[in-house]
Order: sequence, then C-alpha cells, then structure tokens
Amino acid sequence: MSFGDILDTRDPATVLNPYEIYRELRSHRDLVWSDRLNLWLAPTHETANATLRNKNLGRIYQAQEPSDEWEIFNRLHSDSILDSEPPKHTRLRSLIQKAFTPGRISALEPNIIEICEQLLAGAAAKIKAEGRFDLLADFAEPLPVLVIADLLGVPRDKANDLRRWSQDIVKMYEYGRTRAQELAAAQSGAEFSVYISQLAAQRKIEPKPDLITALVEVEEQGEKLNEHELIAMCVLLLNAGHEASVNGFGNGMVAMFGHTSQLDLMKKAPREYAKTALEEMMRFDSPLHMFERTATSQTLIGNTTVEVGQKVVSMLGSANRDDEVFADADTFDITRELNPHIAFGAGIHFCIGAPLARLEMQNSLPMLFEKFPNLTLVGEPVQRPTFVLRGWESIPATA
Ligand code: HEM
Repeated sequence: MSFGDILDTRDPATVLNPYEIYRELRSHRDLVWSDRLNLWLAPTHETANATLRNKNLGRIYQAQEPSDEWEIFNRLHSDSILDSEPPKHTRLRSLIQKAFTPGRISALEPNIIEICEQLLAGAAAKIKAEGRFDLLADFAEPLPVLVIADLLGVPRDKANDLRRWSQDIVKMYEYGRTRAQELAAAQSGAEFSVYISQLAAQRKIEPKPDLITALVEVEEQGEKLNEHELIAMCVLLLNAGHEASVNGFGNGMVAMFGHTSQLDLMKKAPREYAKTALEEMMRFDSPLHMFERTATSQTLIGNTTVEVGQKVVSMLGSANRDDEVFADADTFDITRELNPHIAFGAGIHFCIGAPLARLEMQNSLPMLFEKFPNLTLVGEPVQRPTFVLRGWESIPATA
C-alpha cells in the first residue's frame, strides 16, 4: 500500500470530484508513488510541468501487443506525432506546423461563426418545441467536430462517424477498460484509417484548399511524411481536435452554472469576459487530467529519482488547482488575469491546436450568451464515467 493509492481512478466518487484527493497528493510537494497504478504521480504544478518538459521522459504510449487485430490501431500511434520522440517528433511537428499555420486557423473564424449560428438556431427551435436543449449534444459536441472537419476538408455530413470513431478510440486511454471497448477501438481505428486514406487518395487527384491536401502535398515532396504518418496525423487531429474541446466547454459551463456570480457576469458582458473566462474554464476543471511519460534514462523530478522504465504521470487537473501558483485556486473566477494553467500541456508536445480551441471558445461563448441571455440549467448534468478525459455526457439547459 502506498500513499499514492488514495487516488483510485475507478472510484465513482473520485471521478465525480477528484479535487480533495488531489489536494492531499499535493501536500508532499513532490512526486508520489502509486502501487495501484504502478507509476509516479506528479500532482503539483511544478512537478507536472517538469514531467512534460523533461527530455529523459518520453511519451511512449504502449499500444497493444503486435497482432493482426491491432495492426492498424498500433500504427495510428507509432506513426503519430503525439507518441513519437525526437528526431521523428521534430520532423512531424515542423511538417504539421507548415500546414497548420496561424493564417489557416484565423481563416476559420467565419466558419466557426456560421456553425455556431446554425447550432444555436437549432437549439432555439428545440427549446420552442421541447422546452429544453442539451448544451453538449446540440452545441458543444458538434461545433469542434464540424470545425475540424472544415479545416481538414472532411464533408460535414461525416460528423457523426467522426465523433463515433474518435469516442471509441479515446476509450483506450482510460485505466480499466473492457474487452468490448478495446474491440470497438480497434474497429473504429480501422474504419477511420480507411476513410482518411481514401480521402487523401482523392485529394492527390483533385487538390482542394484544405489541410488534407496540404498534408498530401507535404507527403509528395519526398520522404518527409509517409502515407501512414499522414493518416495518423489526420486521425489525431480529428480526435484531439474535438474531444478535449467538447469537455473543456462542458466542464467550464457546469462550473459557470455552479457559480451564479460568474454566470451573471458572463450574461452581463459576454464579449468582455470571453477571453479570461475560457482560460478559467480550462484551468478550473480541465478536460484532460493525466498524461503519462516513461523514463528513457534515470532522471530527477522534484526531489525524486525516476529510474529507467518507470512511468510518471503529469496530473494536469491537479496542477491547475495548485494554490502555490493560483490565488484562491479552488475559486472559479472568470476575471482571473494571471492564469498560467497547463491544460494545453507544456514542452515539445504542447498542444498544436490551442490557438484553434481558443478561437472557437472566444466566439462560441459570447454567441451562446447573446442568443440565450437567460441561459439556465433545467435538470442535473450527467457525468461521463471516465477519469483521464474528464467531461459530461449531457447538460440539459433552457433559456
Ligand atoms: C480545449 C481543447 C484542447 C485541450 C485542453 C488540449 C490539450 C492538449 C494537451 C494537454 C496536449 C499534450 C499532450 C502530451 O503532452 O502528451 C495536446 C497535444 C496535442 N493537441 Fe491538443 N488540446 C485541445 C484542442 C486541440 C485541437 C483543437 C487540436 C487540433 C485541431 C489539438 C491537437 C493536438 C495535437 C496534434 C497534439 C500533439 C502535439 C505533439 O505531440 O507535438 N488539440 N493537446
């Protein structure tokens, strides 16, 4: 039994609210060993940040044992930027950055606004017909899927498949998953790969002004990005590009509903507070709580020596509540100016999509409150039973 065992990621009460346990874990101000998870926990802002920035800790996700069943799924990881280390990571990162430029992101703003308008019109019609809508299913979920689809050049009517594939795949990153979930992940990984590969083949014949074409062109300029890497990149962008955005928005809105003074501020001046509010939504109840690294050489984090092969988990959600870094860390304050949260990670794998996620929320938040100035909950939000990807299943609301 180790001190870190106080964290049980499968305990429903902890899934509901892990923050008391996080506080206890942080009290040591160092890494904490967990027998239960067989790894080091890095719960403070300093140790979580240092874990992500340490060059002796690699992001080596253990995909499944090699077999026919897992071949495609494993490739999605072994060829992905998120699961590679320098020099491969440096090459993939510079290639995606060439295609995923600030100009391409800001050019998406009109699409974001148009998608928000459509979704909000649909939500208003639902309120008229049924008296309520679901802030997640009717707004927060479709928005980033449709935006990332526009960015990549995937037709919008494919959004439901994208969402299903991606939800199946990300279940593999949870502790204690079932065999049925694993099979669904393998199946969805395969379907997703075939789809992207067909789309890339079409773009080679008929280029369009989209990111898939830009990546295909990069691929064609020699050996720089091979076909497997291209597929892994698109699948990752589609997954990463919306799972965390949906949960970040949902978690932040549930926090907002729970703090009426902040909700009132937001209703009064949504454009004024959007920028600081979105950072606080990311910090206060972060959508991604744990990212693992594995020691490739012996290294020091805090005062703890991590041996080769040992794992360390950066606890983003706990780091973002560290009261040695954030004044009144447990207070949800949408006017917070100093907010060095690490919800988007740190170091070489820092989130590529952070500017897009921020642009989406800078538009979607004020548009939501302008459309529905009397926005309110109309029932209990239903939480997802997952720990690493923290979020809600549904948030019933009305206006
Ligand atoms: C609220 C929204 C988001 C959050 C909280 C978030 C968070 C993160 C975090 C914590 C990491 C680092 C993982 C690690 O260190 O192991 C990451 C990486 C990444 N994110 Fe995001 N993300 C968000 C939205 C997006 C979007 C919209 C995209 C793309 C369109 C995206 C694409 C990526 C990619 C490609 C990486 C891998 C970068 C690399 O390995 O170099 N993310 N994200």
